[in-house]
Amino acid sequence: MTHLSVNINKIATLRNSRGGLMPDVIHAAKKCLDFGADGITVHPRPDQRHITRSDAYRLKEVVTKEYNIEGFPSKEFIKMVTEILPDQVTLVPDPPNVLTSNNGWDTIKNYGFLKEIIAELQLHNIRVSIFVNPDLKIVEGAKNCNSDRIELYTEAYCNNFIKDKSLAIQPYLKAAVLAQNLELGVNAGHDLNMQNLSFFVKEIENIAEVSIGHALISDSLYLGLENTIQMYKRLL
Ligand code: PXP
Repeated sequence: MTHLSVNINKIATLRNSRGGLMPDVIHAAKKCLDFGADGITVHPRPDQRHITRSDAYRLKEVVTKEYNIEGFPSKEFIKMVTEILPDQVTLVPDPPNVLTSNNGWDTIKNYGFLKEIIAELQLHNIRVSIFVNPDLKIVEGAKNCNSDRIELYTEAYCNNFIKDKSLAIQPYLKAAVLAQNLELGVNAGHDLNMQNLSFFVKEIENIAEVSIGHALISDSLYLGLENTIQMYKRLL
């Protein structure tokens, strides 16, 4: 079954808007896990506009299921994750100030850079996933860099789902089949929501994990966090 990792960046965004401790991201992470999430994802950015470095360290103590930290592999990021030792690190190529991840890695151009970083993280027993577009050459490149998994960047699927879901899923299906043949695990994330999620995981059998933040936290405003997590779990 596909695991659900809840991305709690948005909880930190809400907290930071007032500068206090409410809502408490540590408590929220514990609750997400109690309510059935299979893991917690955070994306501490250099400007600490949502999850801070200190949150990332403190979360290690309470995330009893899978802990996934996303980020661009700067020197500071690598230092942080090799101290925290999460279960998984998802490498994203975004420049520091983008609003949200907006592209996958070029695994061919960045072959040497990625290969070195992946090896270093794996030495620390951290599973590595790299964020990629559903492009076959790029998936092959991820394998060449020795990544354990890829995370398929699903924004294009989610945008095109509304127009023609069968067409929208095609590149993702091909990329996931190739990844399976190459013995690469497959995660997925970005813009997944209650409308487009179940079709995605029904059509692509080998999705190990989805990480969902924006839509899930937004839904929970109306439906409650426990109910929302349970609903997403049922869709999986
Ligand atoms: N995967 C990556 C690499 C991301 O950067 C994000 C957003 O932080 C997500 C997944 C989750 O996307 P969303 O918040 O749209 O569910």
